[in-house]
Amino acid sequence: MKAVVYTRYGTPDELRLTEVPTPVPQGGEVLVKVRSVSLNLSDWEGLTGSPLYSRLGGLRRPRRHVLGSDIAGQVVATGPGATLFQPGDDVYADILTYLGGFAEYVCVPEKVLARMPEAMTYEQAAALPQAGVIALQGIVEKGQVRAGQRVLINGAGGGSGMYAIQLAKLHGAEVTGVDNGEKQQSMRALGADHTIDYTREDFTRNGRTYDLILDLAAYRSVRAYHRALAPGGRYFCVGGSLGTLLRVLVGGALTGRRTGKKVRVLAVRMGVEHLAPIVELCRQDKIVTVIDSRYRLDEVPQALRHLGEGHAKGKVVVNLD
Ligand SMILES: NC(=O)c1ccc[n+]([C@@H]2O[C@H](COP(=O)([O-])OP(=O)(O)OC[C@H]3O[C@@H](n4cnc5c(N)ncnc54)[C@H](OP(=O)(O)O)[C@@H]3O)[C@@H](O)[C@H]2O)c1
Repeated sequence: MKAVVYTRYGTPDELRLTEVPTPVPQGGEVLVKVRSVSLNLSDWEGLTGSPLYSRLGGLRRPRRHVLGSDIAGQVVATGPGATLFQPGDDVYADILTYLGGFAEYVCVPEKVLARMPEAMTYEQAAALPQAGVIALQGIVEKGQVRAGQRVLINGAGGGSGMYAIQLAKLHGAEVTGVDNGEKQQSMRALGADHTIDYTREDFTRNGRTYDLILDLAAYRSVRAYHRALAPGGRYFCVGGSLGTLLRVLVGGALTGRRTGKKVRVLAVRMGVEHLAPIVELCRQDKIVTVIDSRYRLDEVPQALRHLGEGHAKGKVVVNLD
């Protein structure tokens, strides 16, 4: 089968479309023919080896050589003891723990797969796993957004932000989206009431405060986040630099006791089993998936470059047929 392989951290130039053996499902696994795979910032981080937490699997060289984590496709074979799915079933999954989605076929434990929601296309299903759970948990389940609250989403122009803006608006919040200048219009189209271009304005220094901040790109101090929170407000950091994540982890808990504000890292529970509420909203057309661009398997390097260089307004998807 064909797969997009890399053996060193670096730029998209490290990626090669190569012929590799088709994997054979082992105990409890199924073989999935990948039809669509969506890109996440975690793919870019896994390619570049930055931030440092993306090297958890291999400090000097990547341990897994095929990236790609949010897949939708068709079961083609089952391994010994795998009983939940039959060949022909349409499935989707977040396989961030295993990777291997930038390939024609991937073997995954059946327990991480779910049947594809009815009436969804492969690319819609592939767009949801990581971005959907981050938005759902950050805005609704942990964020506990309420009507009338002021919500700021930092990094709102990307994949998770696309769902997060819509969820916050559905719950009646006043939403501010922060991202680069190219993405101001697309954030407004998704429902953001206000937008900020992070290259021109620092949201922690403009005198405004928020009841809930979901931060997908955290690079500031704990003190700055406190400054941007209204009394009783909550800040959740999901992605950013390792230094900021550590500062928030330690400093956030300590300062919270004094101020009544909550500054925390959100450890997202990954997996399509957590997606049910957002799948239902998609089914009712209350949440839409914006596909920024579509690529073929041999174009994965271009697709990753497009995402990594900050041009994607919504999800970038690789379709294999
Ligand atoms: N905590 C957890 O458990 C967990 C689990 C899974 C994933 N994650 C992390 O969650 C994040 C999810 O991001 P995603 O998939 O939504 O990524 P994405 O689609 O790339 O979106 C991130 C957005 O942030 C913007 N951005 C970059 N630097 C910024 C800054 N300084 N200020 C404001 N915006 C900035 C990016 O724009 P530019 O193009 O200008 O850079 C991009 O539009 C990733 O960092 C991933 O590693 C965390």
